[in-house]
Amino acid sequence: MEKFVNFEGLTFDDILILPQYSEISPSKVDVKTSLHEKINLNIPLLSAAMDTVTESEMAIALACQGGIGIIHKNMSPEEQAKEVYKVKRFESGIINNPIVVHPETRLKEVFLIMKENNINGFPVVDKDMKLVGMLTNRDIRYIEDENLEVYKIMTPFEKLIYAYEPINLEEAKNIMNKSKIEKLPIINKDRELKGLVTYKDILKEINYPNASRDSKNRLLVGAAVGVEEDAKRRVPLLLDNECDLIVVDTAHGHTKNVGNTIKWIKKNFECVVVGGNIATYEAALFLKDCGADVVKVGIGPGSICTTRVVAGIGVPQLTAILEVSKALKGSNIKIIADGGIRYSGDIVKAIAAGAHAVMLGNLFAQTEEAPGELIHIGGKRYKIYRGMGSIDAMIKGSKDRYFQDSVENEKLVPEGIVGSVPYRGKAEDLIFQLIGGLKSGMGYIGAKNLEELREKSKFIKITNSALKESHPHDVDIRKEAPNYFLN
Ligand code: XMP
Repeated sequence: MEKFVNFEGLTFDDILILPQYSEISPSKVDVKTSLHEKINLNIPLLSAAMDTVTESEMAIALACQGGIGIIHKNMSPEEQAKEVYKVKRFESGIINNPIVVHPETRLKEVFLIMKENNINGFPVVDKDMKLVGMLTNRDIRYIEDENLEVYKIMTPFEKLIYAYEPINLEEAKNIMNKSKIEKLPIINKDRELKGLVTYKDILKEINYPNASRDSKNRLLVGAAVGVEEDAKRRVPLLLDNECDLIVVDTAHGHTKNVGNTIKWIKKNFECVVVGGNIATYEAALFLKDCGADVVKVGIGPGSICTTRVVAGIGVPQLTAILEVSKALKGSNIKIIADGGIRYSGDIVKAIAAGAHAVMLGNLFAQTEEAPGELIHIGGKRYKIYRGMGSIDAMIKGSKDRYFQDSVENEKLVPEGIVGSVPYRGKAEDLIFQLIGGLKSGMGYIGAKNLEELREKSKFIKITNSALKESHPHDVDIRKEAPNYFLN
């Protein structure tokens, strides 16, 4: 048997895309993508199913911008279903955990909280979270004694306009318009505070016209499941909570276990299933035969992955996408390129190679909405980011992604590391830069949508010195260009 396959393994840094004649302005291109008739995204981005990347907060932030987050599975099936529930119930404009004050809080403390959080009014609650009043700018504007307690000046419950949950933004807006108030507390039948709608947030909601939504106008969300018993426990719970995308999430998708799990889900439920991860032509055909709607490509390209050095296995990511795309040509199956994306240019290259969307771990881990811990080192802010095959993550539960069944933690063989990444603020700002880069790339090629990007683009292989030339060189970088995501 011939030992070497007869093609070269290339990744993002090994190529560039040739510029072509263009009449397309980047501001006019369309970056929508469809992973299935039920999964229509306005931007081709997914956040990775990792415990330092995607829980409900990240999934909400990404869906508001037009992508979709995949809730990780390093938690119990019940907890995971609850995270999905939070995304599906999210109404942009309704704050679920508003900052509150208590009746006995003194005004000087209130002023401090106002300044720190840039807000100008609070629900007032007792120790059982029961709503007892509201304190707004109007109540405190002319008060000079900072030692006064809140209960002496708040608008008491009896005089308040409030609403009962569940309520949607439209209904809240009507109440607020009618009664001319700027803040509407939401309570349950026991008078416990459940949320707050502010007029400012209603205006903000108008800023999310690009959000990715289901047929009931709710944000889209996906969730990761393991194989066999794990999938059997998670899938029903996730679907009961209206999860839109089930991702069979393993390090090696070209296996009997993964195949059987996909077949079982497709046979028993009506839902969209992603299978992965894979990196070869044969694996793509295998997952296609098993009934996957979408395949996820990437064995070892991730920034925290050590699979390639620990196991000696992998396919450079650009070649992997090209091979899978070749195998699935003419079918309806869509491709997610997962891992190894460091710059917006890598997104352009992944889609040009055949991907319909990309999954990001590292880049999203850097944002405020990622669940990873925020730490300070030498006056700079960082977030913890770890591989799901790292010892830390596997001890917490992700052993099955790497098919490890040892019950003793010291017998685990890690295929990932724990690290820190620079903190970059809100996901929204990162997404703006990434999509800006994608649009710019499409402008250089003359591609008006992602399909044209896949069809028209041509690659040129480059040398190491060309790669050096591609990055800023021979200057001291004093201020990073905003979309130059160098660590
Ligand atoms: P980036 O490059 O965005 O990659 O950080 C994220 C993707 O990496 C995969 N992943 C792992 N791969 N060992 C691996 O070999 C790990 O511990 C690990 N954790 C995550 C995963 O596909 C993710 O989306």
